[in-house]
Amino acid sequence: MVPSPPAGAPDMRATYDVVVAGGGVIGLASAWTLARDGRRVVVVDPAPGHGAVWVAAGMLAPANEAHFGEEPLVRLLVAAGQRWPDFARALEEAAGRTIGFIPSDTVVVACDASDRTALDQLLSFRESIGLGARRLSASECRHAIPALSPAIRGGAEVPNEYQVDNRLLVGALIEACRSADVQFSSASVTSVELDHSGAVRGAVTDDGLTLAADTVIGAMGWQTSGLGGLPPGALPELRPVKGHVLRLAGSAPLLHRTVRGLVHGRSIYLVPRRDHSVVVGATVEEVGADPRVQAGAVHSLLDSARALVPGIDELELAESAVGFRPGSPDNAPHVGWTDVPGLALATGHFRNGILMAPITAEAVGALVNGSELPAEFAPFGVRPPTGSPARSQ
Ligand code: GLY
Repeated sequence: MVPSPPAGAPDMRATYDVVVAGGGVIGLASAWTLARDGRRVVVVDPAPGHGAVWVAAGMLAPANEAHFGEEPLVRLLVAAGQRWPDFARALEEAAGRTIGFIPSDTVVVACDASDRTALDQLLSFRESIGLGARRLSASECRHAIPALSPAIRGGAEVPNEYQVDNRLLVGALIEACRSADVQFSSASVTSVELDHSGAVRGAVTDDGLTLAADTVIGAMGWQTSGLGGLPPGALPELRPVKGHVLRLAGSAPLLHRTVRGLVHGRSIYLVPRRDHSVVVGATVEEVGADPRVQAGAVHSLLDSARALVPGIDELELAESAVGFRPGSPDNAPHVGWTDVPGLALATGHFRNGILMAPITAEAVGALVNGSELPAEFAPFGVRPPTGSPARSQ
């Protein structure tokens, strides 16, 4: 269970140092970091931890969802992965609870000959950027993961791919934020209030109130680009990328580590949890913010998952859900100050929000402290929307 947002509204007479608009994994991790740095912080979200992060599977896989041409992004993702062991330790200590962080290797498999070719290309990409993987024959794959189908066409063992229980993670972040005196508002930020010079002086919420602060961090996922009260071109382009995810419940272990695969060109992953459940994901759908769980998508996920691991047939379909990843035109995040003094963004993390939460929180802390961001963020400050004049950096 995620702790419910702390009871009571934030003190409207208070002036905060920072308003964090959005209580997803990025907003919560950033708020926790800022509060530990001594800032007075309020997180504004009607349901903290219940957006995309709640639906996710919690894979921390730096290079599995990257493509040729995305090397700077992969460098950021790899640096993000390196933060995880320390972040997990510090968070568990602060929250006094586990987050189900498991530093394990993932097995990636191919279902047919063309999947094998596509997988080999992905492995070559990994090797070209210095990330190893051990290629496995089909029987080696099945030796590593006995539940795999005899029909698979081989695969690879990918080191340093971790997982975290995303729901335990947000519960721990809320607890750690509470302990660090972060305030919570169960409203939504609708716009940013600017002073006569055009600098931030607070955030306006949908209950008509203004939370006074010199700094606002826009961390509302894809909805960040809808923040009002700002000059044209201040915010980047973001869009919701729908993903269906299933949770299958079991009474005995079926898998002991994450399996990713290609099944007739479709990507699939199966992430086992300590309670013997398996999280199966995910579709990647450019259909806008359509909240419906659709039969075809559920069928397609189950069809691919059982092609790799037939034993899922015995599990209970416990949950089917959709989430919306914050997609940007180049699949990369926007983390930095905007041209509006006092307004920074931490959004656009697309398929890697959980992976990038610790390094993004570190970057947000650095922005507010006026210190250097991790070097890997250099290409990923706030970029203007297509057609806007280039920003002065
Ligand atoms: N990172 C998993 C997904 O976006 O499906």
